[in-house]
Amino acid sequence: KDGAELRIHDSVDELATDLADYIAELSEVSVKERGFFAIAISGGSLISLMGKICEAPYNKTVDWAKWYIFWVDERVVAKNHADSNYKLAKDGLLSKVPVVPGHVYSINDSMSAEEAANEYEFVLRQLVKTRTVGVSESSDCPKFDLILLGMGPDGHIASLFPNHTALDEKDEWVTFITDSPKPPPERITFTLPVINSASNVAVVVTGGNKADAVHLAIDDVGPDHPLLPARMVCPTNGKLVWFLDRPAASKLEAS
Ligand code: 6PG
Repeated sequence: KDGAELRIHDSVDELATDLADYIAELSEVSVKERGFFAIAISGGSLISLMGKICEAPYNKTVDWAKWYIFWVDERVVAKNHADSNYKLAKDGLLSKVPVVPGHVYSINDSMSAEEAANEYEFVLRQLVKTRTVGVSESSDCPKFDLILLGMGPDGHIASLFPNHTALDEKDEWVTFITDSPKPPPERITFTLPVINSASNVAVVVTGGNKADAVHLAIDDVGPDHPLLPARMVCPTNGKLVWFLDRPAASKLEAS
């Protein structure tokens, strides 16, 4: 696909090292240029795949005090619930490095999905005003330094599922759904305008069960195929990188 960079790795371990290098480098560049690193993370296997960022040498070289951490999507469950994306990231990453607790923008777990989505968008608007999170040149959208996405075998990214009306959202930055095909059903998610306004977006995918979706998301398949949410990721002014292992890339024509 035009403009996207494909990084195909022989092993998951090699992918994880490249991903940690990539995150550390973007952190350094953002801190140098803006004084902050605004990063939004997803749930799922991504969290363990990015785990090397908490190990040597990165744990000592990354400027953790400058990290502002957000969630691309969250499940509407308590923060200590096994399904919570916050809990996953806290246990797998954030508890291992000296991030500033006040810079960790988890989604409120004590209100309805709709209220929590509105509150998260409100918080984000304040941070864009102060330029802690950058702003897009072409819209008023937040311009994250990095948005990290996983992809499901159905081609969903964030909590944006195939054929769902949430994909059409043009005005809201954060929306909610109550009918997620992947449990739990209630979720809060960034919308496509926010994802596509980022400076850098990475989609991190491993495993042969996702090879069809990778093919449909990246290759020039034409209009007779379903339009996957992952295919709609195309940053307006930013860079898109796909991190794939061999099994996930096995049905690609482009590689
Ligand atoms: C979520 C995630 C979601 C995830 C994909 C891929 O909350 O479910 O944010 O978008 O990234 O479902 O998950 P896996 O990598 O575990 O397959």
